Amino acid sequence: MVEQITTPAKNKTSFNNKPGINTSNVTQLKDVEKIHYDRVSTGISEFDRVLGGGIVKGSVVLVAGDPGIGKSTLLSQLALNIKGKSLYVAGEESAHQIKLRIDRIKKDADLAVLNEVDVDVVSGVLENIKPDLVVIDSIQTLETSDLESAAGSVSQVRESAHRLQKAAKNTHTPVFLVGHVTKEGTVAGPKTLEHLVDVVLTLEGEPGSSYRVLRSSKNRFGPVDEVGIFEMNESGLKEILNPSEVFLEERIDAPGSAITVLLTGLRPILVEIQALVTKTNSPIPRRIGTGFDNNRLQLLVAVLQKRLKLSLWEQDVFINVAGGVKISETAADLAVAAAIISSLKESSLPKNSVFIGEVGLLGEVRSVVNLEKRIKEAKRLGFKQIISPVQTKSLSPILGLLK
Ligand code: TYD
Ligand code: MG
Repeated sequence: MVEQITTPAKNKTSFNNKPGINTSNVTQLKDVEKIHYDRVSTGISEFDRVLGGGIVKGSVVLVAGDPGIGKSTLLSQLALNIKGKSLYVAGEESAHQIKLRIDRIKKDADLAVLNEVDVDVVSGVLENIKPDLVVIDSIQTLETSDLESAAGSVSQVRESAHRLQKAAKNTHTPVFLVGHVTKEGTVAGPKTLEHLVDVVLTLEGEPGSSYRVLRSSKNRFGPVDEVGIFEMNESGLKEILNPSEVFLEERIDAPGSAITVLLTGLRPILVEIQALVTKTNSPIPRRIGTGFDNNRLQLLVAVLQKRLKLSLWEQDVFINVAGGVKISETAADLAVAAAIISSLKESSLPKNSVFIGEVGLLGEVRSVVNLEKRIKEAKRLGFKQIISPVQTKSLSPILGLLK
């Protein structure tokens, strides 16, 4: 049940005689001038990229992610980095806790902190002191006394975001909201929060990995699916400007390793796929992917069994994407297949080869978007042999590559 604030509806049957009706309000698009958004740099180039070139004044940006992933860290860094004054609204942590964090990021740095949970007070302070940036940590802690439900409930979260949105637009202040993610993977409270804000960013990372990926899934002012890559170290999140080099750094020449090129937003990134195929001791062999979808893995294993007659039915198959990257595109299929074959046959693939392509149920290798861009990046990093749908239409040539 969701509590809502209602305004009394006016009794109206026709809009025809409403004062102020004017058909000249209808505009032809050709007469509309192009808007140039007033943007300010975050001072962190990976962050700017994800936002589409910097922060748009008056925009509301939701930063979602699992607890402990680094949302507060990232936004504290942002608050310290921008030119001008920032206001950090903390409903979750005390000023003391925030001081500890800020100290780790930048010794003796200063920041204006407001410990407040009433969204109306926050909006009032915002309109009064007119900061250049506001961080709300987190939206789930804010509430308005106009509603009776508890803080964190759907109606409170939605209403709070709505009021902040208004304050942001009135003062042209960019507002960053921290949003916790529930176990089901949605932004806690309402999905509707995502409709209210201008930009939705997610901070992701695999447990145990220090790499973090900042992804945009909605952006009214720029491209979506743009990605920024960071590493969490002892003094906050450090941006990684050459992800391919970093992800491949620790690679060793061993059976079960294959390289592919992912496309994150507009940027191609090389990652290593690792496979471990071992004799199973359970009646139903396991297929487990870390950073790779389990269902897709099951399907690929089935295709390899049927089309290449590989005996995988008594083998467990584990897949890991090195560096804690999550794969959400089918272009990595061929590399996953190659890694599995390589591990099963205990024979490594040529060191300078890259695998790009989607694998179909018939065992065919299908083309992927922006193939040229991916190949170019692979070549730039010194990979000579590119196995892609341009040269091979089936899985079988991979067997011939094994040493
Ligand atoms: P935090 O930003 O508090 O996460 P969130 O707000 O998303 O819940 O960061 C959580 C983790 O990051 C915490 O376990 C400590 C670690 N951390 C570092 O490793 N280095 C640092 O400089 C900081 C500030 C935090
Ligand atoms: Mg936090």
